[in-house]
Amino acid sequence: MECRTKEVWDAIKRLAVRGAPAIGVAAAYGVVLGVMQEEGRRRPDAALVKEVCDYLATSRPTAVNLFWALNRMRAVSAPRGDWKAALLAEARSIEAEDQEVCRRIGQHGAKLLSSGDVVLTHCNAGALATAGMGTALAVVYAAVAEGKQITVYADETRPLLQGSRLTAWELSRSGVPVTVICDNVAASVMRDKGVSLVITGADRIAANGDAANKIGTYGLAILAREHGIPFYVAAPTSTLDLSLAHGGLIPIEEREALEVSHGLGRRTAPPGVAIYNPAFDVTPARYITGIITEHGIAAPPYEVSLRRLAQTMC
Ligand code: MRU
Repeated sequence: MECRTKEVWDAIKRLAVRGAPAIGVAAAYGVVLGVMQEEGRRRPDAALVKEVCDYLATSRPTAVNLFWALNRMRAVSAPRGDWKAALLAEARSIEAEDQEVCRRIGQHGAKLLSSGDVVLTHCNAGALATAGMGTALAVVYAAVAEGKQITVYADETRPLLQGSRLTAWELSRSGVPVTVICDNVAASVMRDKGVSLVITGADRIAANGDAANKIGTYGLAILAREHGIPFYVAAPTSTLDLSLAHGGLIPIEEREALEVSHGLGRRTAPPGVAIYNPAFDVTPARYITGIITEHGIAAPPYEVSLRRLAQTMC
């Protein structure tokens, strides 16, 4: 399929490309396409780049990686006027950096896992959500590559089933034993199946460590606390939004009612019934044991550890 900026916007909106880092990478290439499609009609300049970035920024509100990547694209300059080449080089850097960042998240996180461990995860924070091997799943892949035997429970992740459609697909393809559970089975699995660790991704992490991720993550974190199971978030530092003091300030996307009323392909809720379909929730920092980043594992108090990480980035 030929892809122009509009198609990239649509792909992000309807989740053909989803997962915070992948959204950022796709948007970066979307900016290149935006400039290319104007060729012959309009001389590219910073104003055009800004217009395209502003447009792509309206696709989804929660994952800060989208805005982070678009800010990088906005900051590109083309002293010799070759905007296409300059923007393409930046998009390629964003993609390549994400691959390396995923690898490093895996390396740091793998230290938390021992052979025989059972990991519970939610949504998809794997290769299908990034340009590399993922964030939460990178930890699993890295541990397995070190020769550790790891098994995974994947929440199916209603309403769109990223856990069962994506996480279970990519783990089983990689030979990692995975069991899909309905979201409401997580408590029983934690109590009865020896879950060692919960690891999820994140879409935006506030300065105090509150972390937005796929709806249902907050509940899992509470369940993990109740069962004495460590709860880790794995995310690149591009997911940090230190401009927000706490998670209550993170914009939470609400999606179409149809995803819930017709979630499994046919109507499952009565016509006319009210539907509430937030795509994300915010896990308060007090439930998070550690945040696994490419620069190491941040521990509470996150106000201090995340600021320190941000300084490492500068
Ligand atoms: O709505 P989605 O599928 O884009 O939600 C994705 C998630 O919540 C992921 O866990 C998050 O983006 C981290 S991906 C490495």
